[in-house]
Amino acid sequence: MFYLTTAIDYTNSAPHLGHAYEKVLADVIARYHRLRGDEVFLLTGVDQHGQKVQQAAEKEGISPADFVERTTSRFSTLWDKLGVKYDGWAATTDPRHKACVGAILTELMEQGQLYKKTHSGSYSVRQEQFLQDRDRDEHGNFGPEWGEVIEIAEENWYFKLSEHTDWLKKFLETNPEVIIPAFRKSELLNALEKNSGLDLCVSRPKERLQWGIEFPFDSNYVTYVWFDALINYVSFAGYRAAADADLPVFEEIWSARPVHVIGKDILIPAHGIYWFCMLHAMGFSDAQMPRLLVHGFWNGLGGAKMSKSTGNVVDPNELADKFSVEALRYYLVRDIVTGKDSDYDMDRLVMLYNTELANELGNLCNRALNMSQRFTAGIITHGGPFTDADLALQASLAESTDAYRAAMDEFDISKGLEALGRHVVHCNQYAERMKPWELNKDPENKARLATVLQHLAESVAHCAVMLSPVLPDAAGKLAAQLNLSSLTEIGLSDLRWGLIPEEHAIGKPLPVFPRILTAEATANS
Ligand code: MSP
Repeated sequence: MFYLTTAIDYTNSAPHLGHAYEKVLADVIARYHRLRGDEVFLLTGVDQHGQKVQQAAEKEGISPADFVERTTSRFSTLWDKLGVKYDGWAATTDPRHKACVGAILTELMEQGQLYKKTHSGSYSVRQEQFLQDRDRDEHGNFGPEWGEVIEIAEENWYFKLSEHTDWLKKFLETNPEVIIPAFRKSELLNALEKNSGLDLCVSRPKERLQWGIEFPFDSNYVTYVWFDALINYVSFAGYRAAADADLPVFEEIWSARPVHVIGKDILIPAHGIYWFCMLHAMGFSDAQMPRLLVHGFWNGLGGAKMSKSTGNVVDPNELADKFSVEALRYYLVRDIVTGKDSDYDMDRLVMLYNTELANELGNLCNRALNMSQRFTAGIITHGGPFTDADLALQASLAESTDAYRAAMDEFDISKGLEALGRHVVHCNQYAERMKPWELNKDPENKARLATVLQHLAESVAHCAVMLSPVLPDAAGKLAAQLNLSSLTEIGLSDLRWGLIPEEHAIGKPLPVFPRILTAEATANS
């Protein structure tokens, strides 16, 4: 099983472009793996506990439970709208998740992995954590990223994280493939060096925070929100679940290394240190440790951080309404290299869609189907003999398909789409050179014309399959126009020359990628 998860989104504010990117990225990866023939389980969801939610609810004068119910639906509704198809929904207020967190805490307690102690020091209200000297800036102060910092003394439960960090260092050095992209591994090892010797505070006293999962053996405390949230990856996979819990069978879901898709801000310390150590303490073997696919950030124009306080939050709902879901999905995975950052730029969204989809791919589909209808009554015949130009087109398709596979296997969607685009451009140039409209003028050229049109139509069929993880609806429309419903069921390994059978009757072309005409776009063109 290919088990893929996303981060679970905080429900204290509305989803923004960054959240949408991560979910679309995971959806594209899941769909691609299905195309490869893998069995896939995609888990996404929401992180509903913690101080931020408690504070946001208080501000509105409603209970945290009512507050999260309302905000949660904003996320699930958006994922439906954007075609993000998930198999499991992780909501941390779910009683099944709470039971799993309780069971894990109890087991860790029995194994001597938890202890209670008093700690006094500086505490960041915003980040919900005690701060260390290493968190101070060069002037010795705690920077604005920590928000309000207060001095408190508090008795809490601690997890013996320090007992696992030596193992983690060795594990990362011997299994570098678990951190993607590779350059993040050194950041993580550096952080681990600084962290050694420290244990993790995993509780919050109820006087300060009530909105959390109660400790199973100490009702004065709730669970630290990160300890609670990270467990979603196992709880919703059926770990320690009751037989009637309506959850998957854990051993089936977690049969190979899962892939956790996360943003770069939550690698250190949450996933890269806490989660690996928690799993190790829970008895997971090295072979069962997950891989972390760490993506970069979408920033505002000019690299400005997208945040509510700077007022440059980009609303994915609005973009989908304005430009279409297809344009947004395409842009989100096309204009960023997985692992790197990118700046949101509406002109580029419009330009990439209009150039690569409306002009190039749309044009190819339209002319292939249109000319086949007009010149060969929509019947595709395999024809031949093949000229050098035909063979070059076939070679271009084979090269693009190989490059697409290699890139997508590495989670590099943008590079995969570039490979696809190269073949589309090749096909349009081939059409310009072969001039089927001229060939049609002389009945002597009938066989040659059929061969040229077959090369174009066959290419459209392959492109539809390769495009399907990113734009499933558009790919489905193309398959329908080709009269090839079987295309939506075919796998990557079936991508061989001859997808369109001899004497197959294709349908009529309908525009799949209408050009985006905005005031801004027309002004620039
Ligand atoms: N609730 C935690 C995750 C717990 S996972 C066990 C959290 N939530 S979040 O809502 O702040 O972020 C959710 C995901 O969105 C994270 O992976 C985060 O990195 C990602 N992004 C938040 N802002 C982003 C951008 N501007 N760009 C891309 N991804 C961004 O962290």
